[in-house]
Amino acid sequence: MKVEFAPLNIPLVRRLQTAAVGQWVFSFLLLAQCCVGIFLMLVLGRFWLITALYVLWLYLDWETPQTGGRRWQWVRNWTVWRYFKDYFPIKLIKTADLEPQYNYLFGFHPHGVLVAGAFGNFCTNYTGFKELFPGLTPYLHILPFWFRCPFFREYIMCVGLVSASKKSVTHVLSRQKGGNAAVLVIGGAEESLDAHPGNLTLHILKRKGFIKVALKRGAHLVPVFSFGENELFLQVSNPKGSVLRNVQEKLQKIMGFALPLFHARGIFQYSFGLMPYRMPIHTVVGKPIPVNQTSNPTQEEIDKLHQLYLKALQELFEENKGKYGIPEHKSLIFT
Ligand SMILES: *[C@@H]1O[C@H](CO)[C@@H](O)[C@H](O)[C@H]1NC(C)=O
Ligand SMILES: *[C@@H]1O[C@H](CO)[C@@H](O)[C@H](O)[C@H]1NC(C)=O
Ligand SMILES: *[C@@H]1O[C@H](CO)[C@@H](O)[C@H](O)[C@H]1NC(C)=O
Ligand SMILES: *[C@@H]1O[C@H](CO)[C@@H](O)[C@H](O)[C@H]1NC(C)=O
Repeated sequence: MKVEFAPLNIPLVRRLQTAAVGQWVFSFLLLAQCCVGIFLMLVLGRFWLITALYVLWLYLDWETPQTGGRRWQWVRNWTVWRYFKDYFPIKLIKTADLEPQYNYLFGFHPHGVLVAGAFGNFCTNYTGFKELFPGLTPYLHILPFWFRCPFFREYIMCVGLVSASKKSVTHVLSRQKGGNAAVLVIGGAEESLDAHPGNLTLHILKRKGFIKVALKRGAHLVPVFSFGENELFLQVSNPKGSVLRNVQEKLQKIMGFALPLFHARGIFQYSFGLMPYRMPIHTVVGKPIPVNQTSNPTQEEIDKLHQLYLKALQELFEENKGKYGIPEHKSLIFT
């Protein structure tokens, strides 16, 4: 194998962008484990007072990730996120105005390997969400287990991440005055196993829980398609039915999160490593589908709105694919 090294004369700003993305990949893959390690060291090192105070804090604060979290504008505004955004770069595109007197449920597709587009757009202040959608506050919902991790939970809550539990989504969508946008990555961890470049398979046919919550709360549904999300990494081939895929699906059932075997480039060379490729991400926010509040939606109502959502998502994709390099004959595949 021939290794292609990065040239030495790279401008400083590109180095900073690489560093910003490097620390983000590290945070995603290893920071939680490091935090658990630090916590265990506190316990084993007999720092009883600190440990006891922190455990007391956890006890008192346990529900916060399900009740809107604890965002800190200062952290969302860190310059490192600007470099992060410019690495790919990530762009947020609006197709319709969203009235801030309603709450919205954004369905984000596809998951990709590390959901970089959703993080860049909804957890930092650098892709212009506030300017494009004045009066709206975005909440990105992620798997609840991340919030059980000591210290790590405090950090991720600062950027505005909240739990994806039903209670948490309901809380965000219950704001009386409107103005909240709950962002859910509908395909979930399962979809990350299909995050190969060029893949347009979305896991959505069996996922209707988000439709039910939207109906119950009267939140308007907004399909969001993030072009380029699947192009950031290569993934070891894992077609359905292969040994690797079977192991991955078993692990996902047990642990709740998937383990895609991804790789792309490194920090100092372009041949292997866990850094994503520099590929543009265009996150297109669709038109809202109005939803009337229904406290006890029937299966029929849920199915009908689900169909409407799929149609809107398909249209959003078809109307925009030409602009972002998807060949005319390619379409979304729902599974
Ligand atoms: C965020 O950063 C910008 C400049 O990068 C600055 O103008 C603004 O005041 C900051 N906002 C907060 C709340 O820190
Ligand atoms: C977000 O960034 C813009 C400019 O980059 C800045 O003007 C604004 O104050 C920031 N908002 C917050 C809440 O930090
Ligand atoms: C995308 O993933 C699906 C499901 O694993 C697979 O059937 C399909 O062949 C893949 N398509 C491409 C273009 O990789
Ligand atoms: C919502 O309710 C209004 C008034 O009752 C009705 O005109 C409208 O068609 C309903 N919209 C949907 C999507 O059911």
